[in-house]
Parts: sequence; C-alpha cells; structure tokens
Amino acid sequence: MSASAPLRSVLPPEIMARKGGAPLVVLTAYTTPVARLVDPHCDIALVGDSVGMVLHGMPSTIGVTLEMMILHGRAVMRGLSKAMAVIDMPFGSYEESPEQAFRNAARLMAETGAPSVKLEGGVHMAETIAFLTARGVPVMAHVGLTPQSINTLGGYKVVGREGEAARVMADARACEAAGAFSIVLEKVPVGLAGEITRALKIPTIGIGAGADCDGQVLVVDDMLGLFTDFRPKFVKRYAELGMLADEAIASYAAEVRARTFPAPEHGFADKVKS
Ligand code: KIV
Repeated sequence: MSASAPLRSVLPPEIMARKGGAPLVVLTAYTTPVARLVDPHCDIALVGDSVGMVLHGMPSTIGVTLEMMILHGRAVMRGLSKAMAVIDMPFGSYEESPEQAFRNAARLMAETGAPSVKLEGGVHMAETIAFLTARGVPVMAHVGLTPQSINTLGGYKVVGREGEAARVMADARACEAAGAFSIVLEKVPVGLAGEITRALKIPTIGIGAGADCDGQVLVVDDMLGLFTDFRPKFVKRYAELGMLADEAIASYAAEVRARTFPAPEHGFADKVKS
C-alpha cells in the first residue's frame, strides 16, 4: 500500500460537513480482518496508538513507535473500501517541532495511504496543527484525557471538571482555529463535552464524553468484550467475544487431550478416489 492507493469515498472535508448531522461512527482497527468488519458500518477506522496496549501488551501508549503505526496503518488500509482511516501520531513523533511533525505525518500518509492523522494536545499543539493543515495533512485533534500524557496527568482520569473546564474548552477552540477537521474528546464530563460540541464548528467525537458529541469512538476490542479483565465505565460491551474464545479454546484443548480432535473428517485420505 502506498500513496498511489485510489482516493476513498470518505475524506476529511466530508467528515467536517457532518457537523450537526447524522452521528459519526468511529471504531479502532489495527489489522486487515478487523478493518474489513468495521468498514461497512463505520465512517472512520481509527488506527489508534492504543494498538500498543491492545495488541502488543504494552503498559501504556508511550512505547508505540512510528514503525508500528505504519505497519498497522498499512494492514488497516488493505481492509477498507469505504470508511476513512485516521492514523495516530505516536508519542515522540510530533511534539518537538512543527517540522518534525510534518516529516512524520508525511511518512504515515505516504507509507500507508491513509488520508489523515490524529495527534494529542490543545493550545500547545495549535502551531503544529496549523503547520500540518497548511501543508496538506488533515489533522484530527484529541483533548481532555490524552493518554500519551498519563505521566504528567497522573493516570487515566476524567479531565475537565470544575477548574479544568475552561482549559479544555480553550484547547478545543485552539485546535479548531488551527484547522483541525475534527476533535476527539476523551473522558471529558458530559456537560462540558456538550458545551464544546455546541461551541465548535468542527465535529466532536466522544469517548467517555456523553451523547451530545457529534460522533462516538470506542476501542473495538473493548466493545467486543475481548478483554475479560478490563471494564471501563464508558465502554458498553456489545459482545462477550473473550468469553466465547475462552470456551472455544478450552473445548479444543479438551478434545486434543481426549484425542477426539481431529476426527476422521478433518484428515486427508492416503489415496485420492478416482
Ligand atoms: O488510540 C486510540 O485508540 C484513541 C482512541 C481511544 C480515541 O486515541
């Protein structure tokens, strides 16, 4: 997959135009098979840096590299025919300077074929967002809880209560003014998320931010219930695939031990019948 991939039907201007319209449906995807499942139902497939925790067992998103995002971005692009891909810029790939951000965003776009990137940060990233958008890089911003900053935030907390509300609003406004085409609000209190959504002209996409946002995003593995031990309050489980997988693997193990699998129908005859 490269930048020579055909233009996809959904592109950032269309996402912007959805402000106030039908809610935007967003899920993460990190692999081709999951991208194929997400594609018919979603407007956006987010190749989130949550891939580090979800698929690679990392303790946070801090260790995710540009190479990982390119690898998973390519895999997802192979599975999409309709939904738009957004690829996360990983920690350390954009914060240093607008030039560093452009260099790495250009690699993400050129080496995967994805038409947009996402980065975390508000007021302090506005200059970078403006630099990127002026140079052909559509940017989805991400404010509120920004997981790449957990070490300064002190954990995966709700961000924007009481004294913090004005700062989160200022962050969101700065991203919009800098040219972001949409913005993720993560773990922002419901009332504030509604206020931000009404104040901005670009779509807000909530995760743990209530129903007033212009769209919703979840980590696909969370909503499918692939983790049996991870239940954040803001995730609704639409399936319990982790439990189903556990039962299936236990049955397989029992049958192998009892020599009831493979059965005759799973084998190949020594001679082909003529
Ligand atoms: O990395 C990710 O999956 C994200 C979403 C949770 C918004 O940034």
